Amino acid sequence: MRVDEPSIDLIARRWDESPSDEFHVATRNTSTVKRFYKAHEIHYSAEVKELTASAPDAMSVGSPRNLDGDLIEPSMPLSEAIKSRSSERAFGERGLSQSCLRSLLFHASGVRTTTSLADGTPVFRRNVANSGNLGSCEVFIVVHEVQSLTSGIYHYDSLAGSLGLLKEGHFRTWLREYVLYQTELADAPLTVVLAGAAGRLKQKYGDRGYRLALIDAGHVSQNLYLVATALGLAITATAGFIDDELDRALGLDGLDYASLLVMAVGHRATLVRE
Ligand SMILES: Cc1cc2nc3c(=O)[nH]c(=O)nc-3n(C[C@H](O)[C@H](O)[C@H](O)COP(=O)(O)O)c2cc1C
Repeated sequence: MRVDEPSIDLIARRWDESPSDEFHVATRNTSTVKRFYKAHEIHYSAEVKELTASAPDAMSVGSPRNLDGDLIEPSMPLSEAIKSRSSERAFGERGLSQSCLRSLLFHASGVRTTTSLADGTPVFRRNVANSGNLGSCEVFIVVHEVQSLTSGIYHYDSLAGSLGLLKEGHFRTWLREYVLYQTELADAPLTVVLAGAAGRLKQKYGDRGYRLALIDAGHVSQNLYLVATALGLAITATAGFIDDELDRALGLDGLDYASLLVMAVGHRATLVRE
C-alpha cells in the first residue's frame, strides 16, 4: 500500500492493543516467587553455571582474524567523556586504525580477566555490566575502511579479543540501500551491530530475559559512546534499520539472536568554510 500522507496510525498500534504492554505485564516478577526464592541462588545451579561458562563460545563464528596494533587506553577523564559525548552523524573519509577498533571493542564488551569458582567453573569479568554475566550482547562489525583489515562482516570474540570473518566484501551500498533509514550513516568507516542473545537469557530468566537483552545492549552502546568520545571519534546509535535484512546478513535467526541496535563510528567530517 502506498499513501500520500503517511500517518502515525500506520506505524504505531493503539496503546490498548499493544503487544509491548502485554509483554511488559506478562513478564513482571511476582511477590509470591520472592517469598520462596533468593534471586542470587539461581547463579549457582548446575545448569546456570554451565550456561554462564559456555556463554563466550556460544556464538563463536567466522574464520579467526587477530587485530593488529596496540590497545589504546584513552587518557580523557571519565567525567569529560560523559559531558562531551553526543551523537554525531557526519563522518570524514579517513579510515580507522586497527588500534582504535581494538580499543572500541575491548572497552565496549571485552572480557578483561577470567577467574574461577572453587569447583573450577570459569568466571568471566567483562568490561560491561551484563545480566547474569551471560554476555548477551553479541557485537558484530561491518568494516568499510579500517587500516589493513579486509572489508566485510565480522563477529567480535569478546574472550579472545579477536574477530571472526563471516563475509568478505563491500557492504556500504547494501547498508545504504537496504538497511539504514538514515543513509548518511553508511558513510562511516565502521558500522557496529549490537545483537541480543535473548534465547540465552530466556534459558535462565524465561520471557523476562527479553527485557534484559535490550538493557544489556544499552550498556554496550553507552560504553561505545564513551570510548569513541575519549578517542576523539564521532559516533551515533540508530534503531532505524531493517531487522530481517540485517539478521539475514549476520546469520541470526531474528529471535534467539537478533539485531537490536546499529552504531556508526568514524572520524568527524571536516567542516568546509565558505
Ligand atoms: C536506543 C537509541 C536509538 C537511537 N536511534 C537513533 C536513530 O535512529 N537515529 C538517530 O539519528 N539517532 C538515534 N539515536 C541518538 C539519539 O537521537 C540521541 O542520543 C539523542 O537525540 C540525544 O542526543 P545526544 O546523543 O547527542 O546527546 C538513538 C539513541 C539511542 C540510545
